[in-house]
Amino acid sequence: MNIILLGPPGAGKGTQATRLVHERGLVQVSTGDMLRAAVNAGTEIGRMADEIMKAGKLFPDDLMSQILGARLDEPDTANGVIFDGYPRTQAQAEALDRLLAERGRTLDHVIELDVDEEALVDRITGRFSCAKCGEGYHDRYKLPKVPTLCDVCGSENQFKRRPDDNAETVRNRLAEYRAKTAPILPYYEAKGLVARVDGMAPIAEVNAAIERILDGSR
Ligand code: AP5
Repeated sequence: MNIILLGPPGAGKGTQATRLVHERGLVQVSTGDMLRAAVNAGTEIGRMADEIMKAGKLFPDDLMSQILGARLDEPDTANGVIFDGYPRTQAQAEALDRLLAERGRTLDHVIELDVDEEALVDRITGRFSCAKCGEGYHDRYKLPKVPTLCDVCGSENQFKRRPDDNAETVRNRLAEYRAKTAPILPYYEAKGLVARVDGMAPIAEVNAAIERILDGSR
């Protein structure tokens, strides 16, 4: 099963993808995470991505699709992928169709997380995660049980925040979403693949709604 989670920055794509990985044994492919890994590794791609991400702009389509194609050649993706943060433009949507077809795979669902933009800046600027295991938290909506310890791996004082999670960059990221990503929805609607979920509901309810879609009982 191959699924796209589509929604603006902070809509909950990463949060829901992580849950589906645990529940369905699917593989999460987050192009944002891949670019951040390149930034941390200090590669040429990473240096390029660092500047673009800090500005809240989009990484070039061709290069992004090449990186994604290489990821889809890794065997763990053969049983199903949750695409988190890709595609983000019409060119990427068309590239994804090509990349999947070349590998004999198809797209099963495009799940749009429908959210109130006003809430997103708050969600994103309050977000932090464990540097060791990646577990995500939020200053108000999801605090660790013990303030200094990660609930999942127990690491102490290892929390970090993303450099692009400041109000100004978030506004640029939202503008990019509106201009370039939201317009790809009709492409998938025409294929009958789109289902909408209320992304403002609590995390567990959003998860349950997605599960119903994947089980075919919308
Ligand atoms: P990327 O890493 O993909 O970031 P994004 O799309 O901006 O999305 P986020 O990760 O910020 O949000 P999310 O929807 O995953 O929300 P989350 O679950 O964390 O991309 C970063 C950058 O990389 C881009 O700006 C671009 O430069 C580049 N890039 C990446 N892919 C690219 C591509 N394909 N092409 C070109 N460039 C690309 O949730 C947010 C917070 O809200 C969390 O704290 C969470 O706990 C909380 N939360 C989640 N759901 C709920 C809920 N239902 N109720 C209350 N709180 C909730």
